[in-house]
Amino acid sequence: MEKKIFLCRKDDVPVDGVIQVCPKEVSDGLAVYRVGAEFYVTEDLCSHGLVALSGGELEGTTIYCPLHGGAFDIRTGTPTEKPCTMPIKTYRVIEEDDQIFGMIQ
Ligand code: FES
Repeated sequence: MEKKIFLCRKDDVPVDGVIQVCPKEVSDGLAVYRVGAEFYVTEDLCSHGLVALSGGELEGTTIYCPLHGGAFDIRTGTPTEKPCTMPIKTYRVIEEDDQIFGMIQ
């Protein structure tokens, strides 16, 4: 069952950027992305190693891992560059006024 949790304010996330948020409900943290006017949320841990994706480079809707350069589509969690082969979790985003919430399972 999904649970709605507050993640951050819209202005906390730079346009075409990513931040890490660490709500107590998610042990390894989440990455909140802003692409233009759209927000996306994924788990923050790369599926290839113990590295935070929020420390990587965001190009459009692709996040590049800072360790080995693997990549994921932040809309679906699908790996798009090797060595990443396992998807990452994505979460539904709810926008309310200036606040961003994630629907966490
Ligand atoms: S740890 Fe992310 S690509 Fe290797």
